[in-house]
Amino acid sequence: MLISGQLLLEDATASPAGRCRIAPGTLRVRDDRIEEVIEGELAAAADWGGPDCLIVPGLIDTHLHLPQFDIIGAHGLPLLQWLDQVTFPAELSWADTDHARAAASRAFDQCLRHGTTGICAYATVHHEATAAALRLASDRGLRGVIGQVLMDREAPSGLCRSADRSIAESADLLSRFPPGSRIAAAVTPRFAPTCSDELLARAGRLAAETGAVVQTHLAETVAECERVSVLFGGRDYAQVYADAGLLGPRTVCAHGIHLDPGSRRRLAASGTRIAHCPVANSFLRSGTMLRHELLDAGVAVTLGSDIGAGYERSMVRVGRAMIEAAAGLGGPVPAAATAWHAITAGNATAIGWDDAGRLAAGAMADLLIIRPDIAWLGLPIDPLARLMFAWDDRWIIRRFLRGQTIN
Ligand code: GUN
Ligand code: ZN
Repeated sequence: MLISGQLLLEDATASPAGRCRIAPGTLRVRDDRIEEVIEGELAAAADWGGPDCLIVPGLIDTHLHLPQFDIIGAHGLPLLQWLDQVTFPAELSWADTDHARAAASRAFDQCLRHGTTGICAYATVHHEATAAALRLASDRGLRGVIGQVLMDREAPSGLCRSADRSIAESADLLSRFPPGSRIAAAVTPRFAPTCSDELLARAGRLAAETGAVVQTHLAETVAECERVSVLFGGRDYAQVYADAGLLGPRTVCAHGIHLDPGSRRRLAASGTRIAHCPVANSFLRSGTMLRHELLDAGVAVTLGSDIGAGYERSMVRVGRAMIEAAAGLGGPVPAAATAWHAITAGNATAIGWDDAGRLAAGAMADLLIIRPDIAWLGLPIDPLARLMFAWDDRWIIRRFLRGQTIN
């Protein structure tokens, strides 16, 4: 199969690395992978695309909550109240596995409709519901990790599980959906306030034994950080996770807003990834993440929608929000080419998916064909900025998962 158009490619000459460029060309896809990238040539006999189309790898969202697609828009509450009043009640409904399966299916529909083909997602504490979401994601052909949420305190009793049960159930999912598979389970302690020291330590051991991705939240709001200090005897938030063996290059901590320089150094030294979620941060009024300071400290930063505190289902708009958040701080502002990289190859590389998020020989053929209904080439405006700021989801005219068109 041949797909022609303006290809979104990694810019190998960028310094520091982490930018995209566009170039006309053709992809040759065989079975589920890109076999060849022919730059400069638009095949006359291409099966898909055209000179006015942008061809991009499927977008990757490194932080979202499947049950929270149904609560997007609950405005006006800070994090801890939003969890108690809106989020936990919604997550309780996943005790009904049929309801959970239908909700997960709607969430996957929305991801794909908005061009997201790779996800790092939280389910709920419910074992059957999480297993159902993993099975469905696998059947739908998505790539990603989905974790059963671990909580043993400071949440409604229907959402708390003993450490024994939580760890046994996560281990079961990891054996059925092993790390490294296209859809894998993940070790997912929600955040320190809802996890005892014992649960965190056992989660850390399970992740080390299995090589699983770890997902959690870190330092999103001041009130949360104060609660952690009370619950953990004044220990620093990042240190709580470090002591439990939860930090490392397979760990994605969402937010990382309220961190002191020592914590930033600890995160950098451990290789921990911080998922920047600018839309959710403004929605909950949590603060603005100092992305540039984290990068300067050597921390790997990914990008996430954080649905449903985040209300944007489009990773393109999340990329735009990253630019706007940085602009609001008055410091260096990432270029659109950097934002496009963040939602594709940048996110993929950071979570260890070296064959995702890029148009390159050998990469999985998870692809989008985008046909903008505006002029975007040959203007005195950076085309990647024009597309990102004028973005319209209806421009996505075709999606491919593993080389197969799904619409
Ligand atoms: N911290 C703990 N749980 C959550 C959640 O579901 N969403 C966000 N934004 N932060 C959290
Ligand atoms: Zn979150």
